[in-house]
Amino acid sequence: MRFTRYLVPTLREDPSDAAVTSHRLMLRAGLIRKESAGMYLYLPLGFRALRKIIDIVREEMERAGALEFLMPELTSADLWRESGRWEAMGREMIRIKDRNGQEYALAPTHEEAFTAAVRSIVSSYRDLPLNAYQINTKFRDEIRPRYGVMRSKEFIMKDAYSFDMDEEGLERSYQAMRRAYRNIFSRCGIDTIPVEADTGSMGGSDSEEFMVASEVGEEVLLLCPDCAYKANQERAEYKRTEPKGGGPAEELRVVDTPNVKTIDELAAFFKCGAERFLKSLIYLADGKPVMAVVPGDREINEVKLKNALGALEVELAPDSVVEDVTGAPVGFAGPVTKKKIRAIFDPAISNAHNAITGANERDRHFAGVNPERDFQITEQADITSAVKGDACPRCGAAMNERKGIEVGHIFKLGYKYTKSMNLTVLDESGKAVHPIMGCYGIGVNRTMAAVIEQHNDEKGIVWPMTVAPFQAHLVAIAKTDEETAAVDEIYDMLSGAGIDVLYDDRRASAGVKFADADLIGMPIRVTVGKSYFKDGEIEVKLRSESEAKRVPKDEFLGHIRGLIEKEWGRYT
Ligand SMILES: Nc1ncnc2c1ncn2[C@@H]1O[C@H](COP(=O)(O)OP(=O)(O)OP(=O)(O)O)[C@@H](O)[C@H]1O
Ligand SMILES: [Mg+2]
Ligand SMILES: [Zn+2]
Repeated sequence: MRFTRYLVPTLREDPSDAAVTSHRLMLRAGLIRKESAGMYLYLPLGFRALRKIIDIVREEMERAGALEFLMPELTSADLWRESGRWEAMGREMIRIKDRNGQEYALAPTHEEAFTAAVRSIVSSYRDLPLNAYQINTKFRDEIRPRYGVMRSKEFIMKDAYSFDMDEEGLERSYQAMRRAYRNIFSRCGIDTIPVEADTGSMGGSDSEEFMVASEVGEEVLLLCPDCAYKANQERAEYKRTEPKGGGPAEELRVVDTPNVKTIDELAAFFKCGAERFLKSLIYLADGKPVMAVVPGDREINEVKLKNALGALEVELAPDSVVEDVTGAPVGFAGPVTKKKIRAIFDPAISNAHNAITGANERDRHFAGVNPERDFQITEQADITSAVKGDACPRCGAAMNERKGIEVGHIFKLGYKYTKSMNLTVLDESGKAVHPIMGCYGIGVNRTMAAVIEQHNDEKGIVWPMTVAPFQAHLVAIAKTDEETAAVDEIYDMLSGAGIDVLYDDRRASAGVKFADADLIGMPIRVTVGKSYFKDGEIEVKLRSESEAKRVPKDEFLGHIRGLIEKEWGRYT
């Protein structure tokens, strides 16, 4: 491909609205352009890389025996009503009506659509197992679209749905996807960490997310240095090690605490550690108030809280609700109360001893609070987040924390959709049974951004051979027509040999061309200039290395082929 016929609008300056490296480089290298908030278009160079990733995903899915479909993007509201998610999907789902008033969603995911499709096609155990997938656009009205294509409103997902007769079958389908995911990400050149993930209120089932460690990741991972335990913070458990406080139980007493509200202010006021406080926050769980009580030095984990309550949504209650249910302004809630409010306690609270908590009265706290004597632990569940240094739930070692980008997710769904949408097949004895499902997603655009996050330097992108838009970048440094013709000949030689080459045939300085080559980052740079015209030597350099090598013309093609093979081999 000749540069002068192509379109690579590189930018010299860093775009002001790009906060992360991949976003900045995708804009600067002319791979994408912003269309509007949270929406991006791909230019030819960017789309070539995206397609390479799509091809890898497709190959590995086919290898794992999955079958490719193409589903409509408009999914009718009736489908979502059948599963009960028309309401549950909330405002992230974009809803529209056609001219007759029929309601649709622009699909944020396709569980319903695939379950309905399989329901209408499959009727016997002989048709299963089945793993149906597609590579298609998803729409999500994200609260905070950001980091370019990493979190956008419209993106391409590979989504797969497996249908099996029983749990063993599901386990086989799940493991096949797990292997496929490992292959996909390593072929794309990215290191991923599979971590245990939240399974929602259904609980029990397996779920793993494939994470790319990165400072810009939005997920927090807890990793055990001594055993295999790795989990998303949303889900991570930890061994409780806090000892129960010693000494005699004090009397319950009221302490005036004018204008002392936050845990830090309280710790200073009472001259003790934050862990002595019973932090009590009022949440709305599907609209109903509930008090969550945790030690003062711990954060409430809203995902765990939601699961423990079996709620679809939990959010901090507005001030007016807090005042209503506690009888005091925000900051003075506590479990010692005669008011009837549902309360849920972290297990650490049963160890509390002479604790301090809000008195449900303005400017007042209780001290000398002891569980069972002063309040009842009515409901108990792990509702706090594990943090760095907490003990691994399996082996007790102090865990580390890292940030990660979620690029893929595999999940044993169970019977949720086959039961709610009544998908059955006849088993061997002729009885109608519900198949069991798994679902498996990869964000293709986010994967591309993750590749760039892991493969760049101060000059630009350093594409892995497997997903690079072009394998080689030919730079001409020619002044005369004769010299230009000589470079054209090298270009013809490369493209004639089936090598994907981008040929910088512009009338521009060597400096400009090299800077662009470094920015857009093709794995092999070939320079034809003075040394070729004088000595017949072509300069070959890997983007990932600083040293160039001079190769005589007759060895050139073999050398390039060898490099491509070697670079390719690094990611298989
Ligand atoms: N807004 C988005 N933009 C780009 N890719 C996305 C977006 N949301 C999800 N993905 C990708 O789709 C994959 C499968 O979707 P899934 O529903 O599991 O994501 P999710 O749990 O909503 O992700 P997140 O927690 O980041 O919002 C994710 O692993 C991710 O790679
Ligand atoms: Mg999401
Ligand atoms: Zn461990």
